[in-house]
Amino acid sequence: MDGKVTREQLLEKFAGVFGDAEGAKVYFAPGRVNLIGEHTDYNGGHVFPCALTIGTYGVARKRSDRKLRFYSLNFEGLGVIESSLDDLKPYKEADWTNYPKGVIWAFGEKEMKGEQGLELLLFGNIPNGSGLSSSASVEVLTGFILRDLFGFDVTNQDLALIGQYSENRFNGVNCGIMDQFAIAMGKKDHAIFLDTATLEYTYAPIRLEDAKIVIACSNKKRGLGDSKYNERREECETALKELQSMVDVKSLGELDEATFEKFAPMIKDANRVRRARHAVYENQRTLEAVEALKNGKIKVFGQLMNASHVSLRDDYEVTGIELDTLVEAAWKVPGVIGSRMTGAGFGGCTVSIVKESAIEEFIRVVGETYRDRIGYDADFYVVEVGDGPRVL
Ligand code: GLA
Repeated sequence: MDGKVTREQLLEKFAGVFGDAEGAKVYFAPGRVNLIGEHTDYNGGHVFPCALTIGTYGVARKRSDRKLRFYSLNFEGLGVIESSLDDLKPYKEADWTNYPKGVIWAFGEKEMKGEQGLELLLFGNIPNGSGLSSSASVEVLTGFILRDLFGFDVTNQDLALIGQYSENRFNGVNCGIMDQFAIAMGKKDHAIFLDTATLEYTYAPIRLEDAKIVIACSNKKRGLGDSKYNERREECETALKELQSMVDVKSLGELDEATFEKFAPMIKDANRVRRARHAVYENQRTLEAVEALKNGKIKVFGQLMNASHVSLRDDYEVTGIELDTLVEAAWKVPGVIGSRMTGAGFGGCTVSIVKESAIEEFIRVVGETYRDRIGYDADFYVVEVGDGPRVL
């Protein structure tokens, strides 16, 4: 199946896998792209992501017993993967179903236990492992479905928190709140300016004039589980502790650049200084970028995106040759307003703001440079900013 799918096709597939589609409902949750504010969310800083119109479709129905039966049109070779409400543990063989299972488990931990199992068929058109949050999309989608089927009293913001909880505790990735929040709270044509320390947020209209958001996918696969994600997080936590011996802050996000530089000598390791420096400066850049966008200073916004990439490359060291090649090639194309890696890094995607008239040239030049240097193709997507989860 290609990227586009109708409700009818999904119900038909569901019937093919589970016998019939009687009583089954169709749902959707988006993916997300972060415009700026990277690796700040677990440092009490700000982020500026938006939900996309691509995402994960789900067809679901309650069962009368306690069985869980999962099927993904993206991994048809795996067939139906079974589990039960009485065995909510992560297993390697359970593969992608550890994500929906984790969310069912997390609801249970919060005293919201459905007494019946379910059938769930998924189809995602987010390139997976791309850094556009296919896993958070599945988590929020599952939470949304559970709320709809079992009537649990939770807000969309709760769905984000439960999704993150499941990812942290069930799937062992110490991620922040950005992805699940951006997905659960998405709003068409708006980015979400979120303070991760307080969860206060505002919506900012994405006014890009004659430009569009273009995603370049490096096709270098990675999962957060095997990346250095948790290691970066620990480095920041240790740096914060060292700083706290001199300055009274709860997170790196509370520091401005000057205060950070003053106390940086408290951090005992040069790598940790650079990690913390990124977290502090990236947070300040995010504040500036949102202000610039509000004032229609799109060029300034682009320059801040570029500076974000440099900091992620040199101080945070989460880019790698694939992402650097895509971004550095993009910077050279006239009509590119800004370009940077997005998401966790270590592979995945870049996000660029490109004048419409330059998109074709952008894809050609960046695509060729990438193939020459890396040896395989990157994929390009001109994306739209969409709404949060919903029933279709
Ligand atoms: C991943 C995590 C997020 C965030 C980003 C980096 O996407 O899930 O919580 O930390 O990386 O900004």
